[in-house]
Amino acid sequence: PLFVPRLPSEASGATTDAPPAEDISADDIFIAVKTTKKFHRSRLDLLLDTWISRNMQQTYIFTDGEDEELKKKIGSHAINTNCSAAHSRQALSCKMAVEYDKFIEAGKKWFCHVDDDNYVNMKTLVKLLSNYPHTQDMYIGKPSLDRPIEATERLGDNKMRPVNFWFATGGAGFCISRGLALKMSPWASGGHFMNTAEKIRLPDDCTIGYIIESVLGVPLTRSSLFHSHLENLQLVSKSEVHKQITLSYGMFENKRNIINMKGALSVEEDPSRFKSVHCLLYPDTPWCPPQVTY
Ligand SMILES: *[C@@H]1O[C@H](CO)[C@@H](O)[C@H](O)[C@H]1NC(C)=O
Repeated sequence: PLFVPRLPSEASGATTDAPPAEDISADDIFIAVKTTKKFHRSRLDLLLDTWISRNMQQTYIFTDGEDEELKKKIGSHAINTNCSAAHSRQALSCKMAVEYDKFIEAGKKWFCHVDDDNYVNMKTLVKLLSNYPHTQDMYIGKPSLDRPIEATERLGDNKMRPVNFWFATGGAGFCISRGLALKMSPWASGGHFMNTAEKIRLPDDCTIGYIIESVLGVPLTRSSLFHSHLENLQLVSKSEVHKQITLSYGMFENKRNIINMKGALSVEEDPSRFKSVHCLLYPDTPWCPPQVTY
């Protein structure tokens, strides 16, 4: 039977005052950052100087080339996936497959995936995830479309069938509970993830949505606190910055797409705004300009 997607439910978010379902800490979260060798200096160093510096033990970097400088900074948490550096569907799925396997191996309660242009606010992330027991089936993120994606599943014998499902956009980051991740194993572990991605011929984040919604029948829980560079980041204003879980930056139609924040540093000094965000969240950071009133 066709799986009929439900409307995604809204995550209770980091603003509820309800008691946590589970008392978790940052150490219970496995954060996978997907990158590629050519962005180690231009993108990754900014993350290492900001949010990752406060979350070294929780963060793992999945890349496609050796880099001694990166190893010096984060040691064995820099993982060379040996996947192709191409931005192809196969290369992206290859990295997601390694992320999944490393998460299962690490034994943590939550898997969260982000891209190398995301800032992660660990405090709000912990708050959101503590609303749910990690043993339950949870898939949390932001859908990139306003409707389920329509895809074609290739079955054996040249048979095909249409499938509809929601997926969380990888560029905004998403999280999966361990309970659910374990159920995904037949379609995600070892070499299976690549095979599954080939079956629907869609990118890595869509494949995650396919396994969870279409195969396992678990709905995406929507959170508006995750942000990708594909949305208008101007809409995130300074008064709201500390409430967000992920942020991003980028270009849109030749214009800078960044969050709207004055912050500690000028746009020239801090084009992504991540350093200013970091100084807002961690004012004791040595390189943050002193005596700034936010
Ligand atoms: C990538 O290849 C190297 C060298 O063969 C190996 O040590 C490493 O474990 C491989 N990485 C993964 C994630 O399999």
